[in-house]
Amino acid sequence: MDINYMYKNIKKYISDSIIVTDSEGNIEDVNPQTEKSWNYSCDELLRLSIGQLFLLDDNFQGVFENTKSKYVIALKTWMGELIAVDKNKKTFRLEVIVCPTLDEFTKIIKYILICKDVANTHGLIHDLEEKDKKLRESYEALSNVQLSMIQEDKMANIGQLSAGIAHEINNPLGFIISNFGTLEKYIDKLFLIINSYKNLINSFKTEGFSEEAIERLNKEERKVDLDFITSDIVELFKDTEDGIERVRKIVVAMKNFAHSTVEGEFQQYDINEGITQTLVIAKNELKYNATVEVMLGEIPFVQAQGNEINQTILNIIINASHAIKEKQQKIDPNFFGQLTIKTYCENDYVSCVIEDNGTGIPKEVQNKIFEPFYTTKPIGKGTGLGLSIAYDTIVNKHRGKLEVESTLGIGAKFTIKLPILLEKEDEGVTNE
Ligand SMILES: Nc1ncnc2c1ncn2[C@@H]1O[C@H](COP(=O)(O)OP(=O)(O)OP(=O)(O)O)[C@@H](O)[C@H]1O
Ligand SMILES: [Mg+2]
Repeated sequence: MDINYMYKNIKKYISDSIIVTDSEGNIEDVNPQTEKSWNYSCDELLRLSIGQLFLLDDNFQGVFENTKSKYVIALKTWMGELIAVDKNKKTFRLEVIVCPTLDEFTKIIKYILICKDVANTHGLIHDLEEKDKKLRESYEALSNVQLSMIQEDKMANIGQLSAGIAHEINNPLGFIISNFGTLEKYIDKLFLIINSYKNLINSFKTEGFSEEAIERLNKEERKVDLDFITSDIVELFKDTEDGIERVRKIVVAMKNFAHSTVEGEFQQYDINEGITQTLVIAKNELKYNATVEVMLGEIPFVQAQGNEINQTILNIIINASHAIKEKQQKIDPNFFGQLTIKTYCENDYVSCVIEDNGTGIPKEVQNKIFEPFYTTKPIGKGTGLGLSIAYDTIVNKHRGKLEVESTLGIGAKFTIKLPILLEKEDEGVTNE
């Protein structure tokens, strides 16, 4: 694969800033994210030196002034936090990786900087923690709070899941960064080989063809393990792409989860898409305890408040996960759960079935679980509101059905049914 092409794509799609400088720190190349982060245009940046993009504190001096010789000895990258200064003199924190690029005499010829905006990641975690805190507060005030007010806290479950979501984002980010380090090393080696080829051509021109010179080049190729590098680069890109795609999916799911519809507004809603996005949010909650099987049928869109339906699906999935964990704790520590989610279309309704093999629900309480505040969970763990909100959303707001079937010890099956044609109470209007 063409290295320039790969480099161009990395530069374009990576959400981190990439800056290439010469050995004196004069900027030679930047990617679009760098322009965005520092508010400079590419042309402006190419006239600056690296010192003009960062606060010249001790940390910065340590990296760029004193340790050049250290790199040469250790042939290592530097990684740490630096304070950046943008065009408007606004400062922001970045996690920076500085990779020196060496020539064949191990002299530094370039620096490549990869800068990750920690504030953004921290900001996201901070936001989620804030939501979590809000949830706790609302729980404490629960006895005085109206059910409808709790329904307004759309992000409640995301708050509960925040640590897991942060973890899900952190994982792929980690290997994207590490892949970059490896890629940089490979590119150095490829440059070496390209150089050798150039020398070979020159020697052919001046001294004529020589088998020995070709053998020398082959030796060099073996030394840097060229075959391995070329195949591994393809893998590296695939892994990195997967990682970027995972982060993108989580962010899109969180965004859609919170804002999929304006308050009170019914829109065309694809329950299959809702399930897929909700599973992205719930993935960390489930992955250690259950396998998830999803069978999405060919079903039409329905008129619905997407975020409320997603919240309902999430509530039911989380309940299933709790029931599976409870079975593990109380009955069999080696038990591994199974969650099956199915959608189909039947008799003017689209149905979504969420079935688990957790503890199950005793017959005598199956009619109580939809009541507000009915919970069998320890204080602080469950509010007993999940299913009552789900019932209100599906049955009252969407004129649908919410059904439960369960056998104690075997599992539980919840079915959400939404009418394909929603009759509006006031005007009798039907959707297309
Ligand atoms: N899949 C399930 N398997 C077994 N029991 C369940 C399942 N889903 C719900 N339950 C029972 O129904 C009760 C009520 O569920 P509900 O979601 O309304 O509240 P909760 O999960 O206890 O608290 P939260 O308000 O945090 O959701 C649960 O406490 C549990 O006893
Ligand atoms: Mg619940």
